[in-house]
Amino acid sequence: MYKIEKTGPIADKVYQMWVNAPHVARNAQAGQFLIFRIDESGERIPLTISAVDGDAVRVIFMAVGKTTTHLANLKAGDHILDVAGPLGKPSEIKKFGTCVLVGGGVGTACLPIIARALRNAGNRVIGIVGARNAGLLILEDEMGEVCDELQVSTDDGSRGFHGFAADLLKQTIAKEPVSAVWIIGPTIMMKVTAEVTRPAGIRTFVSLNPIMVDGTGMCGSCRVTVGGETRFACVDGPEFDAHQVDFNGLMQRMRTYQAEEKESLERFHDHQCRCGGNHHA
Ligand SMILES: Cc1cc2nc3c(=O)[nH]c(=O)nc-3n(C[C@H](O)[C@H](O)[C@H](O)COP(=O)(O)OP(=O)(O)OC[C@H]3O[C@@H](n4cnc5c(N)ncnc54)[C@H](O)[C@@H]3O)c2cc1C
Ligand code: FES
Repeated sequence: MYKIEKTGPIADKVYQMWVNAPHVARNAQAGQFLIFRIDESGERIPLTISAVDGDAVRVIFMAVGKTTTHLANLKAGDHILDVAGPLGKPSEIKKFGTCVLVGGGVGTACLPIIARALRNAGNRVIGIVGARNAGLLILEDEMGEVCDELQVSTDDGSRGFHGFAADLLKQTIAKEPVSAVWIIGPTIMMKVTAEVTRPAGIRTFVSLNPIMVDGTGMCGSCRVTVGGETRFACVDGPEFDAHQVDFNGLMQRMRTYQAEEKESLERFHDHQCRCGGNHHA
């Protein structure tokens, strides 16, 4: 059992949670993830390791379905049954020169740990944090601390630059030489934003989030096509060369279980109503 040390909302439907998991905290590297199973009847859900402090790891998640809604309802002092990890390959960290990290919505959760590692490796790090509106922006202060420069965009102009993070990336690469770019956010955002760096041939990484079940390369549910070959995001990724990823195939696979996911969330809400919001009842 893994104790939740601290938890709470940081934006609209977005929560940060610190969980005591010494085996993960000791070994975690930038770009890796863990898998939570809240209780015996629970689904396994992958979440990126967003920060480490002593024996605790931080995850940041959006309550989008049954399990993330359940997670959002837990309190400090509650326990999670299983925490598996760290899983996946770490980010490629080395001296590149100037690196730009672009986060879209809750995808920004992945960036501070990567920014710290790149800074420690001697890179200049520019952060670009985007969201649909100011209420969905996360980690602006923390990214300001771990990056040499930070730019902010919102689609509706409610904070920072009025437009997409991709527009800020375009301006940045026009202004100064950039050696590597990370883009982490919704799949469609990663697909579109990766086109900004393709003409200049800038090394660009994306972190993919296909459906994962075991997280160890056994079930095949997380397969993605990269450079024309089948790869498993849980063991070969989750980070891949953005210019080699078949995003259309990925988006199609991610829609496979939409009806079941909706039904499962509705059942969870029904159950919460019946037991007065106490799902342990
Ligand atoms: C490597 C990796 C890292 C991730 N990191 C984060 C993170 O840091 N923060 C965050 O908010 N989300 C993250 N996700 C997505 C997160 O796992 C899903 O939001 C979560 O599983 C949804 O579960 P649910 O029951 O609440 O929603 P559901 O209603 O079951 O699903 C909602 C949507 O979540 C996705 N999803 C559902 N089940 C899975 C699964 N087993 N594996 C992957 N995706 C699934 C699907 O796109 C689905 O349409 C990550 C996914 C992967 C693969
Ligand atoms: S999650 Fe099963 S192979 Fe990747």
